[in-house]
Amino acid sequence: MPLHDEQRRRFCQATGLVLIGATLPGCGDAPPAMVDMLACGPTSVGVGIDITSLTIGSAMYFQTGNGVNVFVCRDADGVFALDAGCTHLGCDVMFVDAKCGFHCPCHGATYDFNGDKPTAPAPRPLQHYLVCATVSGQAVVDINQVVDPSTRYKL
Ligand code: FES
Repeated sequence: MPLHDEQRRRFCQATGLVLIGATLPGCGDAPPAMVDMLACGPTSVGVGIDITSLTIGSAMYFQTGNGVNVFVCRDADGVFALDAGCTHLGCDVMFVDAKCGFHCPCHGATYDFNGDKPTAPAPRPLQHYLVCATVSGQAVVDINQVVDPSTRYKL
């Protein structure tokens, strides 16, 4: 079985789509264009929004239920997901706006909108996770796939 078929099968099983896969593209005979959208693994978590509904400069907070909270954000290059946990001692940061980025309420560290340029006492940038979309366009974050800070889900 080619790798992409295996990824698609695992994704469909993880999201329960295998039960209705016969009627959904992507869980039966997905066209090749769907493969990139299914790169997220079986531990992916849906964040309950249509990925196209995020406006440029916005960030939506989401609790995954796995001890990791994320911000799903959009800039001019696409959609990305940040670990909401401050790299100092783990408090969830707060979104200010796209210009000012994020602020930690515990000890005052700040990050830019991409989670970069941490200020003291944060020792490093916020972690980025892979973002995908289901065949119906729902945003999905895979907290087990850390990606380069420049990675974007292109809309
Ligand atoms: S936990 Fe964020 S600055 Fe300390």
